[in-house]
Amino acid sequence: MDIRNHLCEHILPQSLSYFENRKSGELISRLTNDINATQFGLSILFDSILLQPMRLVCGFGLAFYFSWKLSMFTFIFLPIIVIPVLVFGRKIKKYGRRSLTHLGELTDAMREMFSGIRTVKAFKMEDEEFIEFKTINSRFFKRMMQTVKAKALNASTTEFIYSLGLAAVIIVGGYVISSKTISPGSLGGFVTVTAFLVLTSIKKLAKSYGKLQESLSGASRVFELLDQHPTITDNPDAIELKEINNEIAFKNVNFAYDTIPVLKDINLTVQKGQIIAIVGESGAGKSTLLDLVPRFYDTTNGSIEIDGTDIRLIKRDSLLDQIAIVSQQTFLFNRSFKENILYGRRDANKEEVQDAAKAANIHNFITNLPKGYDTVVGEQGVKLSGGQKQRVTIARAILKNAPILILDEATSSLDSGSEKLVQKALDNLMKDKTTFVIAHRLSTIRHADRIIVLKRGCIVEAGTHDELIGKESEYKKQYKIQFNT
Ligand SMILES: Nc1ncnc2c1ncn2[C@@H]1O[C@H](COP(=O)(O)OP(=O)(O)OP(=O)(O)O)[C@@H](O)[C@H]1O
Ligand SMILES: [Mg+2]
Repeated sequence: MDIRNHLCEHILPQSLSYFENRKSGELISRLTNDINATQFGLSILFDSILLQPMRLVCGFGLAFYFSWKLSMFTFIFLPIIVIPVLVFGRKIKKYGRRSLTHLGELTDAMREMFSGIRTVKAFKMEDEEFIEFKTINSRFFKRMMQTVKAKALNASTTEFIYSLGLAAVIIVGGYVISSKTISPGSLGGFVTVTAFLVLTSIKKLAKSYGKLQESLSGASRVFELLDQHPTITDNPDAIELKEINNEIAFKNVNFAYDTIPVLKDINLTVQKGQIIAIVGESGAGKSTLLDLVPRFYDTTNGSIEIDGTDIRLIKRDSLLDQIAIVSQQTFLFNRSFKENILYGRRDANKEEVQDAAKAANIHNFITNLPKGYDTVVGEQGVKLSGGQKQRVTIARAILKNAPILILDEATSSLDSGSEKLVQKALDNLMKDKTTFVIAHRLSTIRHADRIIVLKRGCIVEAGTHDELIGKESEYKKQYKIQFNT
């Protein structure tokens, strides 16, 4: 339980790119299956590692008491048993690791299949998905069988050597009796002690060693995750950001996902309380630009400064306290409306939640449901329409009421009627806030203080609506297309 808690606590603060570059099913598998495998090793610890050596010591003591010569003879068998145990132990660990990797793949395949079930059905891909699943499952099975075989070989080899040892003891013992150097009573005692204490303990220890190796294969994968530290962390000298007094400035900002450059030499200063709209074709880098403000990613070059302080020198918690985000991908938790909206500010009271929902024009819809605010919205909000989901995410941001507002296509799923209402709520919210708005529908950003046109990661035009429309600009071209004028 502690390892699982510790692992979860360790994974959650990792950067966004950490999760983007991993399969979530694989992470889930490490938190469940790998820890289960590790746990296996702990049960062995109490069963064998403590008890069996004690039995072994007692056994040897008694064996020496009965006949020290025969005891010395049994020592010859020890290395013969140890060698296969070590060899198979290594194999068990190696195959165990591989089968856990494949189990991770299997878990991820299931996660993807079920979360994309709509697409699977729409394209009639059930059969194909099943074939894919069977392929991954059989790969996992093969690796699992390798582990099982190595474990079986380990057990049977030790068993075989053990029996051989016992036979040798009896034969040699018989020979020693006939030469009259040992009494039949002592030989009987010696054989009993060797068979029931010494050799059984050795056999059990050998088996346990195999199991321990298997559990180490899980533990090694768990520790691998624990050894990776978050890349975006607080600087030791980081300061608390209390409020924004003047401006947010992008200074020569360059950004690349891995090696693919997305933003080039962005210079932009936004005064406190201004509304900045960012427009540009799909894939120009608008969302990426705004992802840099809450430090979802750090700039590759250049810096973003709030009142002259680089955001990398600000405590992340205090930075995020200042920002409310409505992101392009609407995401809701499979919890109630109330809990989803409260995500914006946990300590808000019932009235505040309802006021936020009213402003986002979703209150009436919620109260008409039989369970009202306690209605659960389904996984990723599947039980809601696109526009309803979007309005819940807006309510969440309204409730947070933070000084910096980031709206990425926040009203894109709304009909013109709802959009007008929600836009009014957002206009109220934007008062005295520093706002970044991304919108494809240019009608929603006419009143922005400044419009930035982004093209392939560069700012190509900037100005107010009137300035940009007054000259031959990219913005004007787009505006004409949208309004057919
Ligand atoms: N997480 C990511 N990892 C790697 N590349 C990414 C990632 N997110 C976006 N990109 C790439 O970065 C570029 C800019 O993407 P971005 O999402 O910022 O575009 P956008 O201007 O918001 O487009 P849209 O209007 O379609 O939302 C795209 O070429 C995209 O392929
Ligand atoms: Mg985008």
